[in-house]
Amino acid sequence: MTTKGKEFKGGFISRNSRFNYLPDADKYLSVIDKPKYKFNVIGTGIMGQEHMRVTMLEGRGTIHGIYDTNPRSIEQAKQIFLANYPGNNLIEYNSLETACNDPEADGLIICTPNYTHIEIIKEAIKSGKHILLEKPMATTIEDAYEIVQIAENYTAIFQIGLQYRYKAIYTEAIYEALERKTIGDIKTINISEHRIPFLDKVKQWNKFSKYSGGTLVEKCCHYFDLLNLFAQSKPDHVYATGSMAVNFVNFEYNNEKSDIIDNAAVTVVYENGTRSTFNLCMFSPMFYEEIIICGDEGRLKAYENRDFLTLKRPHNYLEIMCGENKPSRITTPSYPQDIEESGHHGATYYEHIKFIDNIAGTKTDTATVDEGFWSVVVGAAAEESLRTGKVIYINELLKEKNIPF
Ligand SMILES: NC(=O)c1ccc[n+]([C@@H]2O[C@H](COP(=O)([O-])OP(=O)(O)OC[C@H]3O[C@@H](n4cnc5c(N)ncnc54)[C@H](O)[C@@H]3O)[C@@H](O)[C@H]2O)c1
Repeated sequence: MTTKGKEFKGGFISRNSRFNYLPDADKYLSVIDKPKYKFNVIGTGIMGQEHMRVTMLEGRGTIHGIYDTNPRSIEQAKQIFLANYPGNNLIEYNSLETACNDPEADGLIICTPNYTHIEIIKEAIKSGKHILLEKPMATTIEDAYEIVQIAENYTAIFQIGLQYRYKAIYTEAIYEALERKTIGDIKTINISEHRIPFLDKVKQWNKFSKYSGGTLVEKCCHYFDLLNLFAQSKPDHVYATGSMAVNFVNFEYNNEKSDIIDNAAVTVVYENGTRSTFNLCMFSPMFYEEIIICGDEGRLKAYENRDFLTLKRPHNYLEIMCGENKPSRITTPSYPQDIEESGHHGATYYEHIKFIDNIAGTKTDTATVDEGFWSVVVGAAAEESLRTGKVIYINELLKEKNIPF
């Protein structure tokens, strides 16, 4: 009987279908262990389908069942899943309750629109199962805080889908700036995100702030999570400007006009004095994101780009300049191609590795419910600043909402 080789981490060998011709008895490096965990996916749109794909790629879990209110989402998710993973079954639930409470499933992956998260969590929590809840955890600070309270004494894993920290550039930046402290004490952080407009969604929920939380909550909570992480401090005050300059200016759905911004400049000042800015443009012909962190001993700059036109320049780039203090260098951090292409440049894959490590009892650095909450706080404060033109002091904002700070 062959057992899986522990000596060499070779997922790229066991995942490679070229070895399917081998009799099971001859598989050693290419053996695939039986998945240990079963997950139900709630919401099988773009992100739900990414979670299904990545679960199977990661291999220690499988998808047990799915639930969605849109028959086409179910149909597509089922078709892709069964075509790519023949021999697997997929249960289709006809209610949220049954999807959450099937005793066969170990965990729930919740990928429904932002405004539904709070109600779905209230049902999901009754199951006691492990939960991976997509970002932003809620559309408002009040709902996010309610989820913090709900999750407080939850004994199973409750993870928030803020997985950008596992993109190769940010993983390396976290290691250099926070663990090795290569650039000394961090003083300033700038992040830019330039990308194409929000895509079509079921019922176009992402075109309306009341369903998404607004662009700075919906999309940008990822970057506010990164700013919070690098600043290693709580946000003190936030100032934002922005507008709907190009996208969806003529968009109407059910006789309602879209109200989301497509560009912004946000300043976040932290309690420890770290100063940060975030710049957004959503009418760019390419995906580009960049972080620049300056410390008292050096400067780190990293970017990730996908321009659809050329693969000639590196997708990922990271430079660390330390002047006379330490060695400087330029690198191009990346993951294996199949992992990078599985979704969000590999970030979702590593999120799943860590989700399962968490379930298996190995504590990891995944986004906690508290971190999810603070990413919503900064996003909602920025939306408020943009609306009012005022600087938003976080302690005052939370006080107004009776949320202990
Ligand atoms: N972590 C990331 O990088 C990332 C990326 C994209 C989206 N997201 C998040 O994932 C979530 C889903 O986004 P998406 O892009 O997949 O949207 P989508 O519209 O493509 O998919 C959402 C699905 O949820 C279904 N749905 C709506 N209400 C439901 C309900 N009450 N019960 C069950 N199903 C319901 C819809 O029919 C649809 O199929 C959002 O919270 C979004 O912010 C996260």
